[in-house]
Amino acid sequence: MAERVLEGKVVMLTGAGRGLGLSMAIGLAEAGANLVLVDLEADVLAAAETRVAAAGGQGAALAVTADVTDSDAASRARDAALGRFGRIDVLVNDAAIGPQAVTDNFLVDRRKFWELDDALWKRMFEVNSFGPQLMTRTVVPGMIERGWGRIINVTTSLDTMFLAGAGAYGPSKAALEAHSRVMMQDLAETGVSANVLVPGGAADTRMIPETEGMVRQNLIQPEAMRGPAVWLASAASDGVNGMRFIAALWDESLPLDERIEAAGAPVAWAQIPSKAIYPGQRSDN
Ligand SMILES: NC(=O)c1ccc[n+]([C@@H]2O[C@H](COP(=O)([O-])OP(=O)(O)OC[C@H]3O[C@@H](n4cnc5c(N)ncnc54)[C@H](O)[C@@H]3O)[C@@H](O)[C@H]2O)c1
Repeated sequence: MAERVLEGKVVMLTGAGRGLGLSMAIGLAEAGANLVLVDLEADVLAAAETRVAAAGGQGAALAVTADVTDSDAASRARDAALGRFGRIDVLVNDAAIGPQAVTDNFLVDRRKFWELDDALWKRMFEVNSFGPQLMTRTVVPGMIERGWGRIINVTTSLDTMFLAGAGAYGPSKAALEAHSRVMMQDLAETGVSANVLVPGGAADTRMIPETEGMVRQNLIQPEAMRGPAVWLASAASDGVNGMRFIAALWDESLPLDERIEAAGAPVAWAQIPSKAIYPGQRSDN
């Protein structure tokens, strides 16, 4: 039985119907959180609600079918959460359109960028980059008011951001990664943090197509996301802001500071020295 370090916390998690989102929701519920599960697909969401409630206990899960790019739906999800649980402490932005939307198997059938469909390119950016902005701006004022909160953005591995053949997937995730750094700065001193959590490579969900020679058990298993997600949602990560964590490197056998050192790094591309020159100042001095 997991330690219930999130007892009483309320987590809204998008993309909760399946894959990494569902796995994180189960882990967070096992740790005592109440879950507001958001997904586009009502049927998978209903099944997810049953599984998360089984993990967390009766009344621990509330499913809200919503599109994360629709502002009315985002407000409706927030209001449903407030109506049921009174507040939202943590938002996990996990919902995304994956590269499998470009071709049946982006690992072998790589489309050139000039062959891509404009509508899909725009929709990927809308869901993967604007969706987290919309959901966060909808719920973060309440967190700031209470002086405590967490934004956890699920982006992708840095090399996937420029993976050829995956359409707008990489660029849209790079946009969210950069936005996470903006969020971190804007949220400084509010008690609310913004961090990134990624699996750390191909994870065993429908996003990774069946490919000859692939052993799915060798992919990162969705359960790897649970430990770092629970820690990031808990008071134990107070003061951690603007970091990205690789779930596959999160080793619970290590003491916490060594674990953070092994799996964490500053969000976005902070290691690249800035060369931009702004009027009246040099950014690198
Ligand atoms: N699977 C991987 O290898 C991998 C690797 C790196 C990062 N990620 C990221 O992890 C997250 C979860 O990926 P996954 O593999 O579990 O994907 P998935 O496709 O299995 O699940 C994504 C969920 O998001 C939902 N969704 C899509 N658009 C939505 C919208 N507009 N509004 C609400 N819900 C919507 C889908 O219905 C689905 O249930 C994504 O952000 C993905 O980019 C995945």
